[in-house]
Amino acid sequence: MLKKGDKVIYAIYAMGRMEAIWGKDCLEFRPERWLRDGRFMSESAYKFTAFNGGPRLCLGKDFAYYQMKSTAAAIVYRYKVKVVNGHKVEPKLALTMYMKHGLMVNLINRSVSEIDQYYAKSFDEGYIN
Ligand code: HEM
Repeated sequence: MLKKGDKVIYAIYAMGRMEAIWGKDCLEFRPERWLRDGRFMSESAYKFTAFNGGPRLCLGKDFAYYQMKSTAAAIVYRYKVKVVNGHKVEPKLALTMYMKHGLMVNLINRSVSEIDQYYAKSFDEGYIN
C-alpha cells in the first residue's frame, strides 16, 4: 500500500516490452498492434507510458502525434521507404531513445497512378471522404 509521499519509479523501457502488458508478441516490432479496423487508436497513458499520465501527462502529446503523423504521411505519400539491406537497426539507450547507427533507407518515388489508386481505395473503404 502506498503512503502519501512515497516515491514510485517505473521503467518506460521495460514496460514497453512486458508480456503482461503487451501480450506474447511483446518483443516483436508489430506497429499494426496500434490499429483497430485500420485506424490508429491510442492506448491508455498508463499502458503506453512514454508521455507519462495523470496530472503529469505531457502537454505536447497531441502535438507530437500530429507532427509524427504529418511527417510520416508526407514521406509515405511520395516515397516507398526501404531499409538498406544489411543495415543494423539497434537502439541506443539514452534519456530519449536514439538509433545507434541511424536508419539508412532508400526512398523510391511513388508514381502518380499509385497514389491515385491509394486514394481511390481509401475513399472506397471510407477512410477519407
Ligand atoms: C515524442 C515526443 C515527446 C515525448 C516522448 C514527451 C514525453 C514527456 C514526458 C514523459 C513528460 C512528463 C515529464 C515528467 O513528469 O517529469 C512530458 C512533459 C511535458 N511535455 Fe512532453 N514529450 C514529447 C513532446 C513534447 C512536445 C512536442 C511538447 C511541446 C510542444 C511537450 C511539452 C511538454 C510539457 C510542457 C510537459 C510538462 C507537463 C507538466 O508537468 O505539466 N512535449 N513530456
